[in-house]
Amino acid sequence: MSASFPPSSDVGEILISESDIAARIAEIGVEIANDHEDSTPILVAILKGSVVFVADLLRAIPGPVEVDFMAVSSYGAGLQSSGAVKILKDLDRSVTGRDVILVEDIIDSGLTAQYLLKHFESQQPASLKICTLLLREDNSRPQMDIDYVGFELPPAFVIGYGLDVDQAYRNLPYIARYAKA
Ligand code: IMP
Ligand code: MG
Repeated sequence: MSASFPPSSDVGEILISESDIAARIAEIGVEIANDHEDSTPILVAILKGSVVFVADLLRAIPGPVEVDFMAVSSYGAGLQSSGAVKILKDLDRSVTGRDVILVEDIIDSGLTAQYLLKHFESQQPASLKICTLLLREDNSRPQMDIDYVGFELPPAFVIGYGLDVDQAYRNLPYIARYAKA
């Protein structure tokens, strides 16, 4: 890494370290395997933010597992959820009869996850769960069951470990506060 990356003017306090992320993912991986002893769950990762998380999560699951990807757009270049979710890439295969685990980088308003749950429900999966690395503390979010949560997060806009601001900083190995939010 060059001495000027990441620029300190953009990257604020480190909220979750690389080693804390790794330790928590190891726990979630075992939990997912234990919860699916008799089936092969399919992790559905939402591009692009979840790509770093799902790559580590996959390898932390000591049992059969598959992965598929969806691309949606909800935020654009801004920092606030627009509420409008557009599917840019759908699943390669149907999830009918499968144990589906939606893998998110962060659940904020919950609008993206809610939209996707409805989308999957129409295909009648055997089960539908949500796994998110980060859950923003937010009392106004509609009530939803989230099965696996990595970390709860104070109301700060964050970057790193897959999370971007205008496509930048996904490659930081930790979660940091975005200093300019
Ligand atoms: P929601 O629909 O409001 O739950 O937003 C979910 C999506 O917004 C996430 O998958 C992220 O792509 C993006 N997002 C929400 N909060 C942050 C943040 O703090 N940093 C980067 N992206 C975020
Ligand atoms: Mg994003």
